[in-house]
Amino acid sequence: MKSTLLLAACCCMTLLAGSRGASAHETLRDAAGDRFLVGAAIAPAILNDPAQRAMLVKHFSSITGENAFKPDQVQPKPGTFTFAEADRIAAFATQNKQVLIGHTLLWHQQTAKWMFEAPDGSPLPREQGLANLRAHINTVVGRYRGQVHGWDVVNEALDDGEPYLRQTPALRSIGDDYILRAFEFARLADPDVQLYYNDYNIELPHKRAKAIRLLRELKAAGARVDAVGIQGHWSLSSPDVQTVDDAVAAFKAEGLRVHITELDVDVLPRATVTADIAAGGNAILSPADNPYVDGLPTAVQTRLAERYAALFRVFLKHDDAIERVTFWGPSDGWSWLNSWPTKGRTNHPLLFDRQFKPKPAFDAVMGVLREGGERATP
Ligand code: G3I
Repeated sequence: MKSTLLLAACCCMTLLAGSRGASAHETLRDAAGDRFLVGAAIAPAILNDPAQRAMLVKHFSSITGENAFKPDQVQPKPGTFTFAEADRIAAFATQNKQVLIGHTLLWHQQTAKWMFEAPDGSPLPREQGLANLRAHINTVVGRYRGQVHGWDVVNEALDDGEPYLRQTPALRSIGDDYILRAFEFARLADPDVQLYYNDYNIELPHKRAKAIRLLRELKAAGARVDAVGIQGHWSLSSPDVQTVDDAVAAFKAEGLRVHITELDVDVLPRATVTADIAAGGNAILSPADNPYVDGLPTAVQTRLAERYAALFRVFLKHDDAIERVTFWGPSDGWSWLNSWPTKGRTNHPLLFDRQFKPKPAFDAVMGVLREGGERATP
């Protein structure tokens, strides 16, 4: 069943087909057609460049603010709202009839400490934490009512290890029901906006089970969750596509719609720097840690292309549940993976290179989208 999200997109695509000057199936968004939206997360600075603006409109039917809508960006101090950057992105998406996704109303990172903690670091009393959360959500969701199609209401609330929920400042202040409350506040602030739960690694069985538990509990408590966001920060080899396939099928079986919200494929070795950071080192990059400074060798380009093709075959197979596939960045030069897990890397995780030229991975994805792929039996 296709939602209003896709109906909105189809309408936008029809409206924009002429103005983009591209015939069908030359662009990502046209090749995906009405099967799912294709999005990109962006920083406002990209909008300074007319050529990159044009590429964003040509290929992407949805836009997410990579950082601009996060709590510390829009409300750095209590009651002081700074919307200039988010407004720029919202205006661009609105002007170009792209489906705007709000990321995110609540996250343990990029949220100012005052929201849930006293100056000495102790948790704020529950009522104060709830009041701060309510005020934040009311103001931010209210401002973008009619512009933001859906919000990542809560981001990354699940623990990676044994515990169920991550111990976050919001949880320590408000209690375990802080997620439920966030969904309630968002729904009250805009009854028409779509509401998403977004997390990473929830395709992996141990965390997937926790995500399903959380989504069932939210539903049982009366919350409306319109879709689950699988972030999709993946590598050339992990997770295997069957794991992704199983996860989408499992969420679909829960009656949920699925968004792939932050897709990228890290091509660099990570083990050395990650271990070094964990050990408290400075993670000074050796050439072995950052091997593709002068470009991605053909063999790795081919692996990346095959990896993306395999992933998109899974997405197409489940296009009855998957409504949107968003890349976490428009092109390699803009990717957060150039500075994580340590700065100074030259990564190549997306479909477009640093000059915004399509890579072999782009051609591979276009090939899969044009073929149409296999569909899961309902
Ligand atoms: O805004 C400051 C700027 O004032 C300062 O000069 C500059 C110096 O480094 O830093 C700027 O802040 C950076 C911010 O991005 C905006 O560019 C932070 O250092 C940097 O840590 C931050 O990184 C973002 C990261 O979230 C924060 O954890 C990445 O760009 C963003 O891609 C990443 O996105 C997250 C999703 O929201 C949730 N899922 C995981 C994903 C990847 O971590």
